Amino acid sequence: MHWPAESLWEQLEPAWPGLTVEVRAEVDSTNARLTDQARSGDWHPTVLVAERQTAGRGRLGRAWLAPAGGSLAFSVGVPLAPKDWSGLSLAVGVAVAEALHPDVRVKWPNDLWTWGADGRPAKLGGILIETSSLPPSATGRWVVVGVGLNVSTCPEGPFAVAPAALDRLVPGLTPQQTLERVLPAILAALRAFEAAGFGVFGARFAARDALAGRVVRALAADGSVQDGVARGVTAEGGLMLHPEGLDPIVVTSADVSIRPC
Ligand code: BTN
Repeated sequence: MHWPAESLWEQLEPAWPGLTVEVRAEVDSTNARLTDQARSGDWHPTVLVAERQTAGRGRLGRAWLAPAGGSLAFSVGVPLAPKDWSGLSLAVGVAVAEALHPDVRVKWPNDLWTWGADGRPAKLGGILIETSSLPPSATGRWVVVGVGLNVSTCPEGPFAVAPAALDRLVPGLTPQQTLERVLPAILAALRAFEAAGFGVFGARFAARDALAGRVVRALAADGSVQDGVARGVTAEGGLMLHPEGLDPIVVTSADVSIRPC
């Protein structure tokens, strides 16, 4: 497989001095590698692509499964110093969706969805963001933005939302072409987010919001459940939920699923 690592590096390094773009045949998790890189005292901006992950990580402690060959798995690790971190996964999601296809939607807070011909949602990929500390002399934190996309194949297994492959929307798309589309978009989004926070992404998110107007269930980490109609996000990226007959609430952390009508 030929990866466009050098051309991407040439394109992106001027804005991210010291950036490296590395492709490895197999790693446990690109997020884990870049988090460990920072722990060992190496904070240079790094893009790590894995042709195969043996222990891919998903959100909420889940595993991320993807068959090698037809999927894209990579992480971007950079020092970043936004005033407020809220909404970063939505900003990255918007950047990825826009770089791919008009029918790619962002499902709060970190999924990339499209809608099947049967009217059901289908998951194209996901984003996992992890941060850790920088040396005391630096401002901000080390952030690892991990992206997994089903490009031409899907994992097998029972999933709450069926997986779908991107080449359904963009016929012939390869993992390499996908990286060429989404990586510059993600790095531009990180710069914009650092400068101005999630607010500048609000309208773009609204145009890609997978949940807007849908009845959803928010399951919090403590087990509490809240049903309501999703009505966009706040300026900080919190999900606005309107439970029937009650005041609207803002959800900042939960597992959100669409309720059958
Ligand atoms: C999710 O949907 O729960 C998020 C999935 C994120 C998967 C990507 S694949 C590249 C990077 N490395 C990981 O271990 N996870 C992320």
